Amino acid sequence: MKEPRGTDEIFARIARRYDRINRILSFGRERHWRRRAIRHLPDGVVLDLGSGTGDAAGQLAPRRVVAVDPVVEMLALSDIGERVAAVGEALPFGEDTFDGVFSAYVVRNLSSIPDTLAEIHRVLRPEGVAAIVDLGRPPNRWLAMVHRMGSAITLPLIGAIFARSPGEYWYLHKSLDALPPPEELYADGPLVVERVWRMGLFGFVYGVVLRKPVG
Ligand SMILES: C[S@@+](CC[C@H](N)C(=O)[O-])C[C@H]1O[C@@H](n2cnc3c(N)ncnc32)[C@H](O)[C@@H]1O
Repeated sequence: MKEPRGTDEIFARIARRYDRINRILSFGRERHWRRRAIRHLPDGVVLDLGSGTGDAAGQLAPRRVVAVDPVVEMLALSDIGERVAAVGEALPFGEDTFDGVFSAYVVRNLSSIPDTLAEIHRVLRPEGVAAIVDLGRPPNRWLAMVHRMGSAITLPLIGAIFARSPGEYWYLHKSLDALPPPEELYADGPLVVERVWRMGLFGFVYGVVLRKPVG
C-alpha cells in the first residue's frame, strides 16, 4: 500500500488546473459524490484531510473546517481559513479534536493507509465519524476490465489536452488498481465500517462511513 511521495510533485505541478480537470473527468459529478458522504458528517469541527484547493469547503459549511494537505501549492489556492501543511500519516493535532473527518479522492495517494486510519482514529472524538470518498474500479470484474481499458486511453488523453501533462493522468489510471475494494480495505482498521456505497460509471467511485467506537 506504499505510494511514492512523488505524488506531492504531481499535485504541485497540476495544482492550478486541478479543479477544472476534476470537473471534466467526472463530468461535473465530483461535488455530488462528495455531498453523498458529507451528509453523514456531524456538525461541529471537521478535518478535511487531503483538502487540496479546498473545493469541498462550501459543501462542508456551516461546520468549522480545518484543512490538511502536504502540498502547499494546493493549499495556497484554498479559501479555508485554517490550513495546515501535513500528511495524514502524522496529524499535528491532539486526541479527540474533531467531530468528523472528511477525505475526498485522497486515499490512493497515501504513503500508509494503516497509519492514516490510526491517526484519524486518534484525532476523532469517541462516536466521531469519518466520511471518505475515493475512486477505484467497478466491483464487477468484467466491468472493471472495460473500465481499465477506457481509463488507460481517456485519462492520459484528457490530461494531455487540458493539463498538458499526460504522465500525471497515467498515474491516476494506475492508481485506480492500487488498492483492494473498500469492503476489504477498511475492514481491519481501528474504525467501525458503518456503510459502504458505490457511485459513478459501473460503480467505480465509492463512499464509506467509519465511526470511532467509544472506549
Ligand atoms: C485528488 S486531490 C483531492 C483534493 C480534494 N480533497 C478534493 O476533493 O478535490 C488529492 C489530495 O491529497 C493530497 N495528499 C497526498 N498525499 C497525502 C497524504 N499523505 N496526506 C494528506 N493528503 C495527501 C494531495 O496533495 C492532494 O491535494
